[in-house]
Amino acid sequence: MLEFKLREAKLDDTFEIVSCNIDDVEKWRHFDQMKFLDETSWDELTPFERYMHGGPWLDPQTFRIHFETVKEANGDIIIAEYNDKVIGELDYVVDSDDESTYMSILWLLTRPKYRRKGVATALMKHVISKAKELGCEKIFIEPEDVRSLNLYCKLGFRRLYDLLKVDIQSIPKLKPEVNADVTVRNWDDTPPSDFREVIGLYYTPKYEWIALKRMKELSKIFQNSLWETYAYNVIIDDKNCGIFTDSRLIKIWVNKINVNNTHLISELLKLSVLKGLERKRKILWTWLKEDQYNELTRIGFGLKLTSKSQLMCLAL
Ligand SMILES: CC(C)(COP(=O)(O)OP(=O)(O)OC[C@H]1O[C@@H](n2cnc3c(N)ncnc32)[C@H](O)[C@@H]1OP(=O)(O)O)[C@@H](O)C(=O)NCCC(=O)NCCS
Repeated sequence: MLEFKLREAKLDDTFEIVSCNIDDVEKWRHFDQMKFLDETSWDELTPFERYMHGGPWLDPQTFRIHFETVKEANGDIIIAEYNDKVIGELDYVVDSDDESTYMSILWLLTRPKYRRKGVATALMKHVISKAKELGCEKIFIEPEDVRSLNLYCKLGFRRLYDLLKVDIQSIPKLKPEVNADVTVRNWDDTPPSDFREVIGLYYTPKYEWIALKRMKELSKIFQNSLWETYAYNVIIDDKNCGIFTDSRLIKIWVNKINVNNTHLISELLKLSVLKGLERKRKILWTWLKEDQYNELTRIGFGLKLTSKSQLMCLAL
């Protein structure tokens, strides 16, 4: 049996954690104009090109921002170490609303050479105990493929609903029907606790808010201002009833009473697409639940399904 240790990661572990993630990528390619191009090596790529192979874990500069974001979002990165080498990583965040406290697992990886030796199971069991300690009622996770799906099922996670990744290609009418005042929201003002994220929900709202806020720093590293994201308040009849972002990945929050108000949500989606187009974003995408996808398609949104996933939950 492999004798490895688990501990909380420190910023000094960046190189080892990044190297663990680099090992998981089979081919490195240049990336331009939203397309992968000729094959090359990791050293030859810019931080942006590395990011496009799988997110912030693949470059020390982007990993640092991710590490700080996780910490600020009441989370942690747990690593598995064997002979002073990082052989596994699990990133989680914790959030509370006015109803419950819950954990969301952002990333789990075992270095390819050390797979099928119980590393991921040990990391998962470690954070399940941590979640109980923190008073979480649920843990959410989204499996990447059949390997992680098997792992989460074994640990007792159950499917909640499908998540559809869609490119938003067109909106039903150019002009939104709601008569709303749209103002830029300051990133230091997090959404009020009675607001719920209704579109683009993937991880915890707190983590997502901080990650979006820090897109400004990512856009500096990527030397591409189009990565900077703005958040907007939607004020109707003097009341703020929605918040949306204009990032490539669109997110929408509404106040609790409007969680099932499809008309308002679709109007906010129109506004967010229009703001995104104003900022010359080429691809606007988001995650939708199946019923949201069906409803938005029915009322005329042009949505292109690009991949399908599911949200799983462990009740503690
Ligand atoms: C998924 C992953 C984290 C599993 O790590 P691991 O350390 O090999 O997992 P464990 O050894 O603890 O395996 C536990 C169980 O997971 C399932 N599993 C793991 N690898 C599997 C595979 N290749 N095929 C099918 N099931 C698999 C099995 O049920 C396994 O139990 P068993 O070995 O008794 O059959 C690893 O394959 C990985 O890093 N994949 C790439 C990144 C990724 O997809 N992460 C998930 C993000 S949601």
